This record gives sequence, C-alpha cells and structure tokens, in this order.
Amino acid sequence: MTTEPAPNAPETLRAAMVAALREDGTIRTARIAEVMGRVPRERFTPEAQPADAYDPERAVVTKRDKGGLAISSVSAARIQAFMLEQAGPRPGENVLEIGSGGMFAAYLAELVAPDGAVTTMDIDPEITGRARRLLNFAGYEHVRVITADGAFGVPERAPFDLVVVTVGAPDVPPAWVEQLAPGGRIVVPLRLRGLMRSVVLVREDDHLVSTGYELCGFVPMQGLEENRERLVLLHEVPGEEVGLRLDDGDQVDVEALRAALASPRQEVWSGVTVGGEEPIDDLDLWLATALVGHTRLTATPAARDKGIVASASPLGVATVVVGGTLAYRTVRPTDETRARFELGAYGHGPAAAAIAAHLVREIRVWDQEHRSGPGARFEVHPAGTPDDRLPAGRVVDKTHTRIAISWPGKP
Ligand SMILES: C[S@@+](CC[C@H](N)C(=O)[O-])C[C@H]1O[C@@H](n2cnc3c(N)ncnc32)[C@H](O)[C@@H]1O
Repeated sequence: MTTEPAPNAPETLRAAMVAALREDGTIRTARIAEVMGRVPRERFTPEAQPADAYDPERAVVTKRDKGGLAISSVSAARIQAFMLEQAGPRPGENVLEIGSGGMFAAYLAELVAPDGAVTTMDIDPEITGRARRLLNFAGYEHVRVITADGAFGVPERAPFDLVVVTVGAPDVPPAWVEQLAPGGRIVVPLRLRGLMRSVVLVREDDHLVSTGYELCGFVPMQGLEENRERLVLLHEVPGEEVGLRLDDGDQVDVEALRAALASPRQEVWSGVTVGGEEPIDDLDLWLATALVGHTRLTATPAARDKGIVASASPLGVATVVVGGTLAYRTVRPTDETRARFELGAYGHGPAAAAIAAHLVREIRVWDQEHRSGPGARFEVHPAGTPDDRLPAGRVVDKTHTRIAISWPGKP
C-alpha cells in the first residue's frame, strides 16, 4: 500500500516550491530544479517552520544588529534560484561564495559535483559556526567554510571559475577580480546610485562586463568595504518622516530642500502608462543612469496619508535634486478601474516645474528607446581608468572601480 506524503512534509513543500519557481520562470534549468527539489532545505533553516523555509519569497533571518536590522539570513528560495540561474555553476568548477548561510553552498556543491570545489566565507564566526554545523549534518563536509572578510577573497583557493557574492556590495574589491580565472564570472548584488541589482559579470582582462542582471535586496556588507547609504530627513515629525537616501558620496542642501518640501508642489505628466502589476525597475535604473542629481525619496505611510508626499516606499522612489529643488517620480490611475497608471513627477522648490519636466522627459526617453530593449550593460573597470577607455554612458566612481552603465538600445 502506498501513502500520500502529508501536505506539510518537507518533500511535499519542496516539490511545491520548485513547481512554483518553474512556473513563474525563475528556474529554467533542469539541473537546478533537480537539485532544489532534492536538497533538504529544512536542514539549513532549523530556526523556521518548514512551511516558511519553503516559501519561495521568505528569507529566514539568522541574526540582527542592535538596531534590529537583519544582518544575516538564509536567502529566500526565489533569490537563491535566480542567482543559481545567473551563476550557471558547472561540474568541476572551483567556486567561492561570500556570505554563508549553508543552504546556498549546499546547492552550489551539488551543481559542481563530483569533482568541483566550493568555499564559503563569512565575516561573522557565529555564522560560519552555524554553516559548518549544518553543512556537516546534511553531508556536505567537503564544502570549505572560512571566517574572514570577503573583501579579500581567499587567495590560497584561487583562481575561481565563479564567485557568488550573497551580501549587498557597494563596490567590487580588486581581490574578487584578481582571484577570478580568465573568463570567470562574478554574480554580485551591486548597489549603484541607491539601487541594488544582482549583476552577472564576466572577466575580460583587467575589467568585468555584464551579461545580465536581476532586481534584488540583500543585507549590507560589513567589514572593510562597509559603506551604507545615508538617510537625511527633510520632514522630522515622529512617525511622518520623509527623507532622502544618499549613496556614493551624494551631497544635498538639506535646509533648502526642507523648505522646498514644505512649499506647494508642481505636477508634470508624461502620457506614458504602465499596468498595475507591470514591473518598472528598469525605468528606475534608467532614471538613476540618466539623471544627474539622482537620489531616492523615502517616507512613512503616515507622511503619505497626510499628503506631505505621494509615495511611502521604504526603499524610496526615483528623485532628482538640483540645488534647493527636488522632483520625484509618481503615478496616477488612468481611470476608476485602477488597472493602468500614468507616470509623472511632482516637483517642490524654486525650479519645481522645470525639474519635474526634466524627470518626465527621461521617462519618455525610457518609454521610446529602452522599454522593450535589452536593458543596461555594466562594465567594471579599475579606479584610475581614463575616460576614453570607458564605454559612453553614466560613470559611477567607487573607491576601487569606475562602473560604466550604458544602454545599448533596441536590437
Ligand atoms: C544573506 S546572508 C548569506 C546567505 C547565504 N548565501 C545563503 O545560504 O542563503 C549574508 C551574509 O553576508 C555576511 N557578510 C557581511 N559582510 C561580509 C563580509 N565583508 N565578508 C563576508 N561575509 C560578509 C553576513 O554576516 C551574512 O551572514
């Protein structure tokens, strides 16, 4: 007699997780489906109920800092699945994972088996202790676990065919490039102008060239490369805070912008519409590339409800700051069904109408030239590379690198 597995049995949850990730196109490769459908996720997430561990959208937080911010987690299955697809680990490859939850290293170990090697490193000894214990318990004693700052890589295990960074990185430290085999790949959640994208980068001599990217969110990097965004408040009433998230050394005139926000707004509309469920993260990447003075405006729901700003996104909405004027991207429904929305901008300050119009012009450029195109292309060159060696486009200067973002346009 055969019995059906219980609905909450790990094998049932695992099969449902893989089916969901295949159905929405996150998992495209049979080997990745097979591995994620076989490796027992519950063994790497003893802190969570199995149903939560197998929820494709849910990360299992394993450590928080004193302020309550998550600083370590086992990433959500969806993030792990698309990073595996981006990384494409092959049998026999030598792989470095930066940031150790145990789970992702186990998937990597399966995908490079039988003769590949996986090294996972974390800056936090509590996290590597946990990863070591869980990997051993699940039969992955052969995965090397190292406690060190990932910014330095692991020179004694280099060259790597693949480096997968599983923590939000504000830059690409030189060790990651130097320790990569020629033609090797880095998958890294890169923070650029306040946005994070998991970018696949392939080594070409001294620089890296992207082959794709995905929207993602990751805990911030600690150690030598720690470089968090700054939040400056433009409206400080407790519970109704409105602020600007500043990245890459951005400077703004806070007093002038506080006064601007308190002044009436100007509206400019683009005529460009989007569906309610349509992702517009590439529009935001375009605006971050195109707009000088790009930053992100963030607000609490109470600030939005009071009408101080139109959006309550905790990660912020695309905003351009020019002197004492700011303008941010917004939307309005095209009719009562609220199925489609028109993109526009709200401006505050002495040049509100002009700056909002400038933002709206770039929304139209995205619509006409990039909306259905291949998206952005990133090149990561060493700091000091002269401009004439960089592709045309926006250059973001980091400590170690110059990151050039270009938009090749429709094929
Ligand atoms: C999202 S977790 C890693 C998740 C893991 N890859 C998994 O199995 O899902 C990010 C980790 O990066 C670690 N981390 C932060 N800064 C680091 C650094 N400079 N070097 C190495 N690890 C770092 C944190 O301690 C945290 O454990």
